[in-house]
Amino acid sequence: FHVDWDLVTAEKAGFDHFMLKEIHEQPKAYRDTMMGRIAEDGKSVTLSKEIGMTTEQIRGISRVHIVACGTAFHAGLVGKTVIESLARIPVETDVASEYRYRSPIITPDTLVIVVSQSGETADTLAALREAKRNGARVLAITNVVGSSVARDADDVITTWAGPEIAVASTKAYSSQLIAFYLLGLYLAQERGTIDQAQVVDIVEAMHRLPEQVESILEQAELFKGVAEAVSKHDNLFFIGRGLDFAVAQEGSLKLKEISYIHSEAYAAGELKHGTLALIEDGIPVIALVTQEDLYEKTLSNIKEVKARGAHVIGIANSGYEDEVAKSVDETFSIPRTLPLLTPALSVVPLQLLSYHASLARGNDVDKPRNLAKSVTVE
Ligand code: AGP
Repeated sequence: FHVDWDLVTAEKAGFDHFMLKEIHEQPKAYRDTMMGRIAEDGKSVTLSKEIGMTTEQIRGISRVHIVACGTAFHAGLVGKTVIESLARIPVETDVASEYRYRSPIITPDTLVIVVSQSGETADTLAALREAKRNGARVLAITNVVGSSVARDADDVITTWAGPEIAVASTKAYSSQLIAFYLLGLYLAQERGTIDQAQVVDIVEAMHRLPEQVESILEQAELFKGVAEAVSKHDNLFFIGRGLDFAVAQEGSLKLKEISYIHSEAYAAGELKHGTLALIEDGIPVIALVTQEDLYEKTLSNIKEVKARGAHVIGIANSGYEDEVAKSVDETFSIPRTLPLLTPALSVVPLQLLSYHASLARGNDVDKPRNLAKSVTVE
């Protein structure tokens, strides 16, 4: 009796690629990242083990800077909305390679949040050190315990996504979102900008996220057909408003990174200020329509691209898919959650889309050309 196997195949646990395995590990990553940080009665969030700031210090934060690279930066874009809306602190976001050189206004009451899966990204580490030199307190969100970023930061929230092998980040990004939700809630509680009923609502919805991701993953094959169609194009667009725009940027990066298809993410309302000129017959446009308060506005932007011949693929909340279907060519629905939490679900179809588009193009999904998992040079 002879069994052929090697370590890499074993580590993929039956999946064809690490990326697909890691996409499927997201429900566990969400649960693990929440574990021990939400009170059993669901009425409060605690990060007092991770964050050594007193309530008074937290109340004294006058601004937050979120600094990161690539996908981690995109998680930061969601983090900005989360912290601003829950804790009511003004937040700026910067890519780390720009932050260091633009002489940002850093005061002792600035909280700088660096986000890094590996904790070894050179630009992020340099930005962290620059922030500390200028007297800021630095909080790191990282997936690697004991990494350089974790060691140098004042406070650390670990995302418990487990090792991420594929160059394209998936479960690390979505776990960073969970970390931002926890952080937003914790800061809001400490600053008194949220009432307990709101905390309970958000926490309940967070607890449902892992199962909701599982239900998207059960339909993973659905994205194959659309990805194969998309893979025949050389250009496409992602559009959305608000948090949908933040997720659109991540979807676009993921697609470029592993399928080598050029794409751009646009705030749906910005299209008519230039980009609309690029819309021509048959060009795929992936439209995220999950932010219910912006729903009508996004639909009207979809009509603008449809009228110029775009082939629109809509990602809509369950319950809204029939309405969205009237304005798009294909619709995928995702389970309904609170608008603030939607990125933790809407990114999943975009990850699957990139994965299958990359496969359809015959690329090395886990090791895209020209890229390294951890960028330790500036
Ligand atoms: C993600 O798919 C990319 N490979 C890349 O953008 C990555 O997120 C970036 O290099 C930052 O890495 P880090 O999170 O390890 O700092």
